[in-house]
Amino acid sequence: MNEALTVALGDRAYPIHFTDSSKALSATLAELRQAQRAVCVLCDANLLASRADYLKAAGFAQDEILSLPAGENTKSIEPYATALSFLAQGNRNRDSVVFAFGGGVIGDLAGFVAASYLRGIDFYQIPTSLLAMVDSSVGGKTGINLPEGKNLVGAFWQPKAVFIDTDLLGSLPAREFAAGMAEVIKYGLLADRALFDELETLGALSPQSEALPAIIRRCCELKAQIVIDDETETAASGGRALLNLGHTFAHAIENAAGYGDYLHGEAVAIGLVLATRLSVELGQLEASWVERVIQLLETHALPVRLKSPL
Ligand code: GLY
Repeated sequence: MNEALTVALGDRAYPIHFTDSSKALSATLAELRQAQRAVCVLCDANLLASRADYLKAAGFAQDEILSLPAGENTKSIEPYATALSFLAQGNRNRDSVVFAFGGGVIGDLAGFVAASYLRGIDFYQIPTSLLAMVDSSVGGKTGINLPEGKNLVGAFWQPKAVFIDTDLLGSLPAREFAAGMAEVIKYGLLADRALFDELETLGALSPQSEALPAIIRRCCELKAQIVIDDETETAASGGRALLNLGHTFAHAIENAAGYGDYLHGEAVAIGLVLATRLSVELGQLEASWVERVIQLLETHALPVRLKSPL
């Protein structure tokens, strides 16, 4: 339980640290400095305001940090160009390293910056939201949105390590925590009936819940296995596409509503209800599942229908 989990992808294998992850982060940074590799951190401005101490304690210097506006709009061309210029103006070379300190938006953006700068440099994920801890920081999907749609530009680019520190969730707004729970519930639905049952029994979780660290680890185990089996989502059926449960609806909602109106996890929550209803209509699920899914989402104060017509 205390050991790091390995995402076994051959020469691209990497650890996910769950316990003592801040120590593992400091040790990694010390090794990079020893090897004289330049580092930089992409971080969201809100988080930097509240948790600059975390980066300082890990050993990062102020001028290594690029702060970007919080919110989904940061996953777009302009902030991407800003980040690339930050690296270029700092004369970062191919040995340089990018750290992502933030939620899914920063992780996806930083990963794509790393994937494309000088044709690819190393990067590390330090997820700070529940959604990023259980989903987006693991598996190497990186990218940005276009006005035409979400995640339309990107690359599969695996991080070198993921450092999950649940203490960071303490500063996460309740709405953001709930949005992460939508992805947790997704794992229960797509791959782990026992997890879904457990979530129903536990009721509303919070960053302080005793059960949370084991649940985060369980989600990472499920995701790691799916990614190992189908890293680039090419399986003819099932495979990595399973992780998109509810996401086709969610992406349409986010795109039609304008990014920022719904948090990604909130759109996923509505998407899960719609996907469950569709499965019932197709005769693939018993009708009672719709109510179960709605109830579990509502336990976490997640939306289960559109706030207003799009
Ligand atoms: N978030 C879906 C995936 O990583 O495939």
